[in-house]
Amino acid sequence: MKLRSLFGSLLLACSVQAAPELPRLEVRGQATQLIVDGRPYLVRGGEIANTASSDLEYMKTSVWPNMARLNLNTVLVAVAWAWIEPEEGRFDFTLVDQLLAGAREHDLRIMFLWFGSWKNSVSSFVPTWVKHDQARFPRVRLASGDSIEILSPFSTAARDADTRAYVKFMEHLREVDPQHTVVMIQMQNEVGVLGDSRDRGDAANTAFAASVPAELMAALQRNEATLSPALLRLWTAAGKKTRGTWTEIFGDSPATDELFMAWHYARYMHHMTAAGKAVLPLPVFTNTWIVQPEDKRPGDYPSGGPQPLSLDVWKAGAPAIDLNCPDIYLPNFDEHVAAFHRSDNPLFVPESRGDRAGVANAFYAIGAHAAIGYSPFGIDNTARLVGLRPPPGTPAPTDLENLPLARAYAVLRDQSAFILEHQSAGTLRAAWLNRDKPAQDIKLGNHTLHVELRRNSRDQSFMSDTGYALIAALGPDEFLVTATDVQITFSPATPGDPIDGIADAETGTFRDGRWTATRKMSGDDIMLNYHLAEQAAAHQSGAGLRFGPDGPTSQRVTLYRYR
Ligand code: DGJ
Repeated sequence: MKLRSLFGSLLLACSVQAAPELPRLEVRGQATQLIVDGRPYLVRGGEIANTASSDLEYMKTSVWPNMARLNLNTVLVAVAWAWIEPEEGRFDFTLVDQLLAGAREHDLRIMFLWFGSWKNSVSSFVPTWVKHDQARFPRVRLASGDSIEILSPFSTAARDADTRAYVKFMEHLREVDPQHTVVMIQMQNEVGVLGDSRDRGDAANTAFAASVPAELMAALQRNEATLSPALLRLWTAAGKKTRGTWTEIFGDSPATDELFMAWHYARYMHHMTAAGKAVLPLPVFTNTWIVQPEDKRPGDYPSGGPQPLSLDVWKAGAPAIDLNCPDIYLPNFDEHVAAFHRSDNPLFVPESRGDRAGVANAFYAIGAHAAIGYSPFGIDNTARLVGLRPPPGTPAPTDLENLPLARAYAVLRDQSAFILEHQSAGTLRAAWLNRDKPAQDIKLGNHTLHVELRRNSRDQSFMSDTGYALIAALGPDEFLVTATDVQITFSPATPGDPIDGIADAETGTFRDGRWTATRKMSGDDIMLNYHLAEQAAAHQSGAGLRFGPDGPTSQRVTLYRYR
């Protein structure tokens, strides 16, 4: 009897395993990282076309297997309110279950994009019973008096109906996803009013004439030292009052309308996010349609989305939302990530490009801004991995494993633990180069690294038009660089002998998480310039590191100094 009960307890002890940890965001040293299965996780993502996830056959044949071949670990997949609540109160999660099964079969994680009230500002993914009932679910009204197909964020009925569906969805995930295939949720998609700078319906007009909410005023005063410069300028120009209406606090301009809409979108989405987190507290982010160069005023772009101008308003209005993220298709990627990455807003790029330039973006975001990860949009159309907007009919590449993104993601996979450690230690940097910005100096350890686009060693002309480098300091004089199409020279950044020479260099790869050297680098490999008299006069050795076009490749270098 005793033996049997001992055996029983042993069996029980063996079968009771710790439940998989819920994905979360955690500040680790100098970076905020996504923790999955209890460990820091670097997102090698890709977002599929808006409606691809409603087509299970397509997912099975073309999406899941290709995502695995491209070395993704995470796929951003839409789930629409209309698809799960086709009739009010009747929920159908078959699609969600199949999507989870497909991802698991290919060892992939999911970020679900909740296409509820708004997708690219409009309300196209709401159920038809919502579309039909304009009296119950009012739309945004323009200055002309016309209403548009955007649910008004001032509609409590819309907010509550969307919240009910979202909470049901989260309840379902809690039940069917104990292993946390789902690691983050995107709340809505690129919200804001198009066609006017604000909603001009009755409820909106009443709110606009009222005082700016006390919580927002308190946040402005509390965070004055770190407010976005543009927001601070508006508040200061209007006399930096501590109470008043929207126009009294921020002045009478379309920018004030934008801040007003930002507050009300934030409140709506905070309400939904908080209700969802009460059920399943996964990290939640938003994505932003950023201002385009041709836009003249809010409403040309969605007015009220989390733009750099209004990030402080969003932080105050939607504390349940963890990240506000940019969708970046514009060429000045570096400026946009800098505008979104703040100490209270870690960086994740949910939409961008997936070609060679996209790979440079990914490495730069991860290295220069400690990004949680990167995700090109429309990745199921693999022609987009060759160029940003391939003309219709462009044949899909077949050799997926050799596309720049697949090669880059393979390297990021092998280096993940190393990269995440260096993000956390603050010893990771990145360069992002093109013909407009062909060179960048990076100070790291005891040295300045001069990173520039790869040049022809004979005539010094550029050999490439895009290049990038991810640089980790292994010590004050030692670096591990992963790069494509750049060359790097060095200068001392501390007092002492004035010239940096290469003591030792090698190529290598990461195997089982450890650096494994493959070849010594010297001679032709490291000589970038043989004009030694000129080089000496410029305190240069003529030697450096060169990375070719078939990257990313890695080199480890140790420097010494001479005079
Ligand atoms: C941005 C949106 O967020 C995506 O869903 C998609 O519509 C792309 N634009 C298309 O370029």
